Amino acid sequence: MDKVLILDTTLRDGEQSPGASMNMEEKLIVARQLARLGVDIIEAGFAYSSPGDFESVKKIAAEVEGPIISSLARAKPEDIDSAAEALKGAPRVRIHTFISTSDIHLKYQFKMTREEALRRAVDMVERARGYVKDVEFSPMDASRSEPEYLYEVLTAVIKAGATTLNIPDTVGYALPESFGALIAGIKKNVPDIEKAVISVHCHNDLGLATANSLAAVINGARQVECTINGIGERAGNAALEELVMILKTHSEALGLDTNITTEQIYPSSRLVSGITGVSVQHNKAIVGENAFAHESGIHQDGLLKDSSTYEIMRPESVGLARSTLVMGKHSGRHAFGERIKELGYDISTEDLQKAFLRFKLVADKKKEVFDEDIEAIVQDEIMRIDDTEDYKLLTLDVRSGTETHPVATVEMEVRGEKVRESVAGDGPVDAAYRTIKKITNTRSKLLKYSVNAITGGTDAQGEVTVRLEEGDIIALGQGAHTDIIVASAKAYVNALNRLEYRKRHSRANLIP
Ligand code: KIV
Ligand code: ZN
Repeated sequence: MDKVLILDTTLRDGEQSPGASMNMEEKLIVARQLARLGVDIIEAGFAYSSPGDFESVKKIAAEVEGPIISSLARAKPEDIDSAAEALKGAPRVRIHTFISTSDIHLKYQFKMTREEALRRAVDMVERARGYVKDVEFSPMDASRSEPEYLYEVLTAVIKAGATTLNIPDTVGYALPESFGALIAGIKKNVPDIEKAVISVHCHNDLGLATANSLAAVINGARQVECTINGIGERAGNAALEELVMILKTHSEALGLDTNITTEQIYPSSRLVSGITGVSVQHNKAIVGENAFAHESGIHQDGLLKDSSTYEIMRPESVGLARSTLVMGKHSGRHAFGERIKELGYDISTEDLQKAFLRFKLVADKKKEVFDEDIEAIVQDEIMRIDDTEDYKLLTLDVRSGTETHPVATVEMEVRGEKVRESVAGDGPVDAAYRTIKKITNTRSKLLKYSVNAITGGTDAQGEVTVRLEEGDIIALGQGAHTDIIVASAKAYVNALNRLEYRKRHSRANLIP
């Protein structure tokens, strides 16, 4: 079997999904999970783009064992130097530099001639090689570049020392057949191509990211860049879980394989959607809620007789071995810890204790505690870290009813100082939000508010997601609780803290 390397860019391109920003601790949690998943390379961030990204790349490179850790860098000396500085001292590192090669980008955005872009690419690959042995080069917008010029640039950067050549379909324009042919053309027309690994990086604007990546692999690409749940810029990137399960399901026919521990796919998907707040569509291949749900009577009948009748993969193979009823208020810490491990979370003893106490509270209120409840507890209590400590919700009391005008009384800590206010609203959530807004004296606009019942029943935990906007900064917040007004307030405060963080650390608006 020939190996296809998996480069995961959830922490870089994935983070470019609107509202999906993660802070450093969250990135570290995701990076550790990616290592458990067995990805070959983690693109940990874009070191030069912001102090936050720099620190995240540095911390991940220093602390996460297993995968190669890569930082993105424009083809500019300051970017290469910053990537090298962030990766310094770490055992397995890569610098990934890029510049566009399409005439559209060169003319309108870079304002460069083809010759200037080629020279810059070579110089920056050489500069990166001065720091590290492993250098990836991407000709951005490759799928809309003239193939002859693309071959020339690739030939030159191989000479300059590039070890991976990544061919991006930056705007998701390519068709599988032509993208496959482009890779075949590169293999045929670029001298010394065997000195580098051919990689692909496909966007999903036409829903073809996975198909295009597969076509590339069939034509000789041996690295695929993808993200968990396919998150990423605009319509996202190729979804890791799709590519990996295609290669596994058809491994014999394709003669290809990956290093991924597929049983970690589902836990990774849940972790990333929990941390970023970007939910997975129900019918999403591999990790969607319905991906292994059989509704039709004929299908159910077939499945009961033999699962191969209607299942091309076993749910267990992607880590979906879920028990329906898990635990209740009599369950002990040991069993709770074991269940958390089975769900794919690796948490410290201290965090386990925190989660267990919260579990006991939930179990007191709910008759049955399901896997989804436990995931919500872990994500709300441990994984969802407020980016700043600017705002803390202390108490919330809301009155409402058919004969009562809703009023909320909220006590918060605002940058260390206790503040209490009461404000009326159109409903209990509105009253709570108006009060929080008054206390925090913030001006953000609420773009989205949604409540999701984590499991069935009136005692279910509610998971609230809010999206706030201030200027050009967007932040998501989440909160879970058996009381949806409390969950709503927690989500709002979480989003406000994220917004503050983003205001201080937002990625610079970099001109290529
Ligand atoms: O989509 C793209 O072209 C990119 C590059 C930086 C690789 O993300
Ligand atoms: Zn991209």
